[in-house]
Amino acid sequence: KRPAGAPDKALAKPVTKVGVVGAGLMASQFALLFVRRLKVPVVITDLDQARVDKGVDYIRGEIDTLEKKGKINGDESNRLKALVTGTTDKADFADADWIIEAVFEELGVKQDVFAEIEKHVSDTAVLATNTSSLSVEQIGAKLAHPERLVGFHFFNPVAVMPLVEVVRAPSTDDATLSTAMVTAAKLYKNAVITTDTPGFVVNRILAKLLGEAMHAVDTGTPFEVVDKSIAPFGLPMTPFELLELVGLKVGAHVLDTHHAAFPDRFFESKNLHDLAEHGQIFERDAKGKVKGFDK
Ligand code: CAA
Repeated sequence: KRPAGAPDKALAKPVTKVGVVGAGLMASQFALLFVRRLKVPVVITDLDQARVDKGVDYIRGEIDTLEKKGKINGDESNRLKALVTGTTDKADFADADWIIEAVFEELGVKQDVFAEIEKHVSDTAVLATNTSSLSVEQIGAKLAHPERLVGFHFFNPVAVMPLVEVVRAPSTDDATLSTAMVTAAKLYKNAVITTDTPGFVVNRILAKLLGEAMHAVDTGTPFEVVDKSIAPFGLPMTPFELLELVGLKVGAHVLDTHHAAFPDRFFESKNLHDLAEHGQIFERDAKGKVKGFDK
């Protein structure tokens, strides 16, 4: 029996070409997943050609790594690399039927990106946002067809983390939700349907952990002590390692969003904002391996 609220799979639309807006770390990681699992053309776009090229190079490099590891053969590697293209011209999205964005986590930016994208895509294309804690409903506020927008939230590293949160906004229609669920399954991800609340499920819980860890620092406990205290509890990463993995700016933004929505339950952290602007938590070697805490 289908769980309450789960859409009929028969409503899902086919995905034959994917458009990715943003060529940063998250977008490049999931663009790789789309090409590897769906084996359809994936076109990525960003503000300028340099960013686009960087994203395409990353994806093709990761495909080479998959070949070197023996996970795909040479033919498959060449086929997948040929399916990935980059563009600064959104007109190239005209025949894409699934467009997903991971641009800067700023409501106005995302609203404008989708309003612009909608001018270039077909009426039936599904639009997805990888937002980590903004309201999907508000992101779609400038769309002519907000019913085709859904949250599709990956976790870093995308290749390894098994979950996708499929966020159903009040306006999301069943065909869009169904397409998202079926697509997640084709990407070999476990999808859960969440409501459109700040942080959805996972970041709401992570924000608590990361926010409390930063608050301990903000109120005088050294980074080292917080890190050493939590390490034996068996998490794959300590809160500060996780903050650096997701990016300090993203982490600070997630905490701010939660603090704004639930000021009595979540902290914001000035230290985290300062670090996001000027520094890092850990000192690392040239290969990115942690040497200790940055002083
Ligand atoms: N990209 C791609 N693959 C990666 C990777 C990366 N950044 N990091 C690790 N991997 C792969 C490795 O290649 C390896 O794959 P193979 O077995 O095929 O070679 C596999 O993962 C295991 O890697 P390691 O043995 O080197 O590392 P590990 O066992 O220490 O695990 C980890 C690394 C999976 C990242 C683990 O530390 C972990 O699960 N950390 C927690 C990550 C997490 O919580 N992410 C969610 C962040 S919140 C978020 O993203 C949402 C948001 O909106 C902010």
